Amino acid sequence: MGLFKKRKEDRSSGEGFAAAASAEGPDPRALIHAIDIVKIYEMGDVKVHALRGVTLKVTRGEMVAIMGPSGSGKSTMMDILGCLAKPTSGTYYLDGDNIEKVSDNRLAEIRNKKIGFVFQSFNLLPRMSALHNVELPLIYAGVPKRERRRRAIEALEAVGLGDRLHHKSNELSGGQIQRVAIARALVTRPAIIFADEPTGNLDSRTSEEIMQLFEELHRQGNTILLVTHEPDIAAHCQRIIRLRDGKIESDEWIKEMSPLAKEVHGERPLSPPPGWGQADDDD
Ligand SMILES: Nc1ncnc2c1ncn2[C@@H]1O[C@H](COP(=O)(O)OP(=O)(O)O)[C@@H](O)[C@H]1O
Ligand SMILES: [Mg+2]
Repeated sequence: MGLFKKRKEDRSSGEGFAAAASAEGPDPRALIHAIDIVKIYEMGDVKVHALRGVTLKVTRGEMVAIMGPSGSGKSTMMDILGCLAKPTSGTYYLDGDNIEKVSDNRLAEIRNKKIGFVFQSFNLLPRMSALHNVELPLIYAGVPKRERRRRAIEALEAVGLGDRLHHKSNELSGGQIQRVAIARALVTRPAIIFADEPTGNLDSRTSEEIMQLFEELHRQGNTILLVTHEPDIAAHCQRIIRLRDGKIESDEWIKEMSPLAKEVHGERPLSPPPGWGQADDDD
């Protein structure tokens, strides 16, 4: 009874649905199954409600853009879905694992093997070569040296940097550095790649190249969740989720759904891409 009361306070909507969904357990067809995720940051006496009950499913092979104004909860949502942070309440299943319930060891394994992260600010070690930066997650995963090297080279070749293996960050352009970061996210062959404003520090031409790369990775079967506030970037994705004040405001498909996505989300009419009919269409 006490528990029910506490849960109720945290929730702004949809208790009935969320309770039913969590009682049912994870949807085995969904890679990501988040139910009524709430995140409250406490800063002294002040509480910031960053997420106010986010429920969503993402199936394998989707390419999703998370959009929304600054402060709407995009990064908080990515951090929770990427298992970098825990929600205040709600249930999160990643590939069938209830993230709240798994052991610390299992969580470390999930982070290392199932998740690849690409940040806006690259987060590479500046004095190390591209090759070494990409090898790092494999060192943590305990992959033997020879195998590690082979896979790191393969990942760098996949992002078009086969000829820059031994360059350090300060010897590479912004776009090349972001490619190294993407290779590093890919090298563990994760189930999902999370990218928080991956083109935020790049000029528009380089951004376009990086998005072509993400699209190619998507075509190869990777699942990608990407935060952006730029309509041009979001237009490369299949599905656009908009956040506002910590809630999902809209969830639209702009490109064809896979059969699995249709099964899980129901078949949806396609929406026009963001920014459609607004900018520079003089034809
Ligand atoms: N570590 C934190 N401590 C306190 N408040 C935070 C923290 N991180 C984010 N917030 C607040 O939570 C809200 C959502 O932030 P964030 O998820 O970063 O939004 P976005 O990525 O959409 O800009 C904002 O009001 C922000 O100020
Ligand atoms: Mg952010």
